[in-house]
Amino acid sequence: MKVAVFGAGTMGRGIAQVFATHGDQTYMYATSVASAQRHRSEIEKSLAKRVEKGKLDQAEMDRIMGNLFCEEIEAAADADLILETVKEDMATKRETLEKLDEICKPETIFASNTSAFSITEIGAGLKHPMIGMHFFNPAPVMKLVEVTAGLNTPPELVQQIKDLSVELGKTPVEVKEAAGFVVNRILIPMINEAAQIYADGVATVEDIDTAMKLGANHPMGPLALGDLVGLDVCLTIMETLYYEFGDTKYRPAPILRKMVRGGHLGIKSGKGFYDYSK
Ligand code: CAA
Repeated sequence: MKVAVFGAGTMGRGIAQVFATHGDQTYMYATSVASAQRHRSEIEKSLAKRVEKGKLDQAEMDRIMGNLFCEEIEAAADADLILETVKEDMATKRETLEKLDEICKPETIFASNTSAFSITEIGAGLKHPMIGMHFFNPAPVMKLVEVTAGLNTPPELVQQIKDLSVELGKTPVEVKEAAGFVVNRILIPMINEAAQIYADGVATVEDIDTAMKLGANHPMGPLALGDLVGLDVCLTIMETLYYEFGDTKYRPAPILRKMVRGGHLGIKSGKGFYDYSK
């Protein structure tokens, strides 16, 4: 299968790695070919570390890297699957997909990795069918894919994407369209609440995370998880939940907004609830 992943942030890179590992011809897109190549090198570095640790064969790494390509957008015209992983901004997503809608063959499936947006809105007016295929961070490790149909998604496409997810070694769950789907509607308000607990001075960052790791058996604490997901992404999801449901229980914690405004986005910016600059 030929897959084109548009957007090479944390999720785009992870998802490209998943498809390349599965053996698909995977095209990576960022703002330019040079930028996509830099993101491809990041995957190479991370795989090289696993080879060094003896967790991956050099031959397997070469096979995965041999499936990853960076070309101009025209190369996506005959892709079987477009995976949209650009930033959580409706205008950016629409702009990318409208361009692809013009050039892709009619059978190309359009899928979005949106964290919380409406699939119906993302796909509105496009000639190509649109579906939600939502991976989790880190994509090569996390087993879940949420599969979401919008109002105009052909029902048979849902089964096709569920089958594909299984082929990729993931477990799909089918989710009706609703802001935040299942996981983020539960998980992100929890991270938001943890941020508010910290802002209220109830406990330190470390103690909040220790409490949830040891008291709820979570693999990592909510504030470390917020840093991993990206605090800007967490804020956008809270804003989407708040707007879509009109319910004050989804109010973003003011500290989250302040941190995002100040560029404290988590791991990707070197600083969030924890300091990653050292
Ligand atoms: N890419 C590839 N492999 C990775 C990786 C990455 N980014 N991060 C970790 N791994 C691999 C490691 O190499 C390791 O594999 P091996 O055992 O084969 O060496 C394995 O995953 C476990 O990693 P570690 O031993 O380093 O660390 P860990 O056991 O503490 O696990 C974790 C790390 C998987 C991140 C774990 O802490 C975890 O599951 N955390 C919760 C993650 C989570 O909740 N994600 C969902 C976020 S919400 C989301 O993504 C949706 C959204 O729309 C916002």
